[in-house]
Amino acid sequence: MFYEPKNGHGLVRDPIKACVVPRPIGWISTISQEGVCNLAPFSYSNLMVTAPPIFMFSCNGAHLEGDVKDSALNARETGEFVYNLATWEIRDAMNTSSSHVGRSEDEFELAGLTKASSMLVKPPRVSEAPISLECRTWKTIDLPATKPEIQNIMVIGEVVGVHIADEALKNGLVDTAALRPIARLGYLDYSVVDEVFVMPRPK
Ligand SMILES: Cc1cc2nc3c(=O)[nH]c(=O)nc-3n(C[C@H](O)[C@H](O)[C@H](O)COP(=O)(O)O)c2cc1C
Repeated sequence: MFYEPKNGHGLVRDPIKACVVPRPIGWISTISQEGVCNLAPFSYSNLMVTAPPIFMFSCNGAHLEGDVKDSALNARETGEFVYNLATWEIRDAMNTSSSHVGRSEDEFELAGLTKASSMLVKPPRVSEAPISLECRTWKTIDLPATKPEIQNIMVIGEVVGVHIADEALKNGLVDTAALRPIARLGYLDYSVVDEVFVMPRPK
């Protein structure tokens, strides 16, 4: 089949998210200007370049209490956010933290997670996550939106601090399969990375 998104797909459900898979889950912690901690997962997220490491996540759609989701609002207003790695073990907490709740609600508490202090930025890390990246917002970009009432925003930040749990390292390398990171597919589907293969680059 071929379709142009502006004309609709004609399928039972929108397939677009199933076309770009698997997507890493950026589990983003921020703090509001009022000091409320916030945590939410974003599968429109990735590392963009390595030197310096630049990470991005995107918020689409509206928030309960306004047009911008808390994570983008906080990262834009305070200039800081933290990426946390979502793994199989803490998948339910990750999912709970995606609840659409008011701006004054702390999703760490909602999801029963523990805060760990960051070294260089104010937002706490998810202590249960084996990897966290402390980021300073570099730029936010408004993306096109199909309806005037929704705001799509990309948040781009420089990774200024990297936390890797000692247990996550084996012979000096991150043992990805042992961490069992989870990733988003289309619809409500997820994938878990528990098998890794190596493919050397061509000369
Ligand atoms: C696995 C997963 C991935 C998600 N990815 C995104 C995403 O990429 N962009 C987005 O706007 N919402 C995404 N959501 C929904 C947000 O997490 C949800 O809207 C959340 O309430 C936003 O919280 P905030 O307003 O505190 O930022 C995702 C939810 C889940 C469970």
